[in-house]
Amino acid sequence: MIRVLFVCLGNICRSPMAEAVFRHKVEAAGLHNYIEIDSAGTGSWHIGNPPHPGTEAVLTENSIKTDGLKARQLKAEDTETFDYIVTMDSDNLTDTAAVKTNQAQTEISRLLEFHPDLSETDVEDPYLTGNFTKVYNMVTESCDYLLEHIRGRENL
Ligand code: 4NP
Repeated sequence: MIRVLFVCLGNICRSPMAEAVFRHKVEAAGLHNYIEIDSAGTGSWHIGNPPHPGTEAVLTENSIKTDGLKARQLKAEDTETFDYIVTMDSDNLTDTAAVKTNQAQTEISRLLEFHPDLSETDVEDPYLTGNFTKVYNMVTESCDYLLEHIRGRENL
């Protein structure tokens, strides 16, 4: 099983959105028996909470299931149990790298690294900007490229 973890700050806006979108794409590709997906936040404020209403709304509008999404905090052990950790911005990347254990083999990246046509490096935080649709579009396009990357690397 290949394990993919999306990481943002609160785990209520961007990373649960990416988790749900990527799961949708993995299921559509018939790869759900090969790829397991989760998300976490580097912060602890929203542990146990469902996604932000803006994330919930944009996913529902796009017929993407949101069941089971519940915020949790990133833990050091995640860097050993996940093969790919995909962060939403540069702060998340730094904070994830800071808890990576010596044994960890995981690849830590930023989601937008996989998108060849976007000049931004960070997925903006819709908790602050309110731009859930813009973030959804960036996330969904980038997830297509991420899936291509993983399929190539893992011969799927
Ligand atoms: P997220 O957005 O990292 O995309 O889930 C945020 C949600 C909550 C907070 C910050 C960012 N907060 O400070 O509570």
